[in-house]
Amino acid sequence: MSKKIAILTGGGDCPGLNPAIKGCVWAAEKFGYECVGLTDGWKGLVEGLTTPLNRELTEYAITQGGTMLATSRTNPFKQEGGVQKCLETFKRLDLYALVAMGGEDTLGVATRFYRDHRLNVVGVPKTMDNDLSATDYTFGFDTSVTKAMEAAAALVDTGRSHRRVMVLEVMGRHAGWVALFTAIASAADFVCIPERTIDTAALLKKVKEAHARKKFALVVTSEASELPEVGEGEQKRELDQFGHVILKDRGMGERIAGYIEKNTGLETRHAVIGHMQRGGAPTLFDRMLGVRVGVKAAELVRDGQFGQMSALVGNRIIGVPLEKATGELKTVSADWNGLMEVLF
Ligand code: F6P
Repeated sequence: MSKKIAILTGGGDCPGLNPAIKGCVWAAEKFGYECVGLTDGWKGLVEGLTTPLNRELTEYAITQGGTMLATSRTNPFKQEGGVQKCLETFKRLDLYALVAMGGEDTLGVATRFYRDHRLNVVGVPKTMDNDLSATDYTFGFDTSVTKAMEAAAALVDTGRSHRRVMVLEVMGRHAGWVALFTAIASAADFVCIPERTIDTAALLKKVKEAHARKKFALVVTSEASELPEVGEGEQKRELDQFGHVILKDRGMGERIAGYIEKNTGLETRHAVIGHMQRGGAPTLFDRMLGVRVGVKAAELVRDGQFGQMSALVGNRIIGVPLEKATGELKTVSADWNGLMEVLF
């Protein structure tokens, strides 16, 4: 029987992927497997793009941001002959199992390969958006919110000095976790998340009150929030291979800043942290979570638990069905309303 495990990382990179690769490789080698990296996400399986992976090559991966395997948003199910090519590569490389590290899209592909083609696939959840179900947290989230928090603190300094309103736009796609946690942890005066259309009267009231009291104000917005007055219909947006709207250049921070300035007369500036919040060394939390889910993935392979994903539940790392993780996006639920009402 083959003893070779391939690992790939798909979708947006995030801090914690390299620790997860290390965890998976070190555990797999301990269990007697050999590892190989597939580069550039699912494109690597389609085209058979490989790179060596072993203990030595991954030793310091625990300290590093990004992904040493590179990534892409390739969807083999959307390419002519893509699925067949993946199955052929799996055979040609003589793989026993594949560990796919990714978010809802990458793991959605993994789910289909397991369900429809009975491939020995195991998943590892990653995303800075923290929007995967069946796991309490995903690595990447803690580091990116920490970076956004640092950006917010810098905006508070300059906003306070110039007596301005500052608007910080953060990533997070269609889930408001990054914006919400950044806003709470930065003592922002208002937060805009995609799960709730912005209450513009409340936004203007909070900003005016904050500015009257302390001569500056901070608003944090998600890249995907909605201003009812402006609407999203003004232009057609590009879709990626998974059918998701590409949110770049949507300009929510700028639009909200313009709206505030126009309706309050207060001088307002905006800043977009963008990809700076997705790079850099992982925080302690993301190193620990990454390495733990990586080790668990190798254990799931060893135990023949295919179609599973390693997940953080409470403080334990357990296997959960991949389908549970990808069935529904985890967005900010109504449970958070109480806390939001207290703080904003
Ligand atoms: O899903 C992770 C994420 O960083 C989102 O928060 C963001 O909308 C998107 O990826 C950006 O994607 P790209 O790197 O392709 O511009």
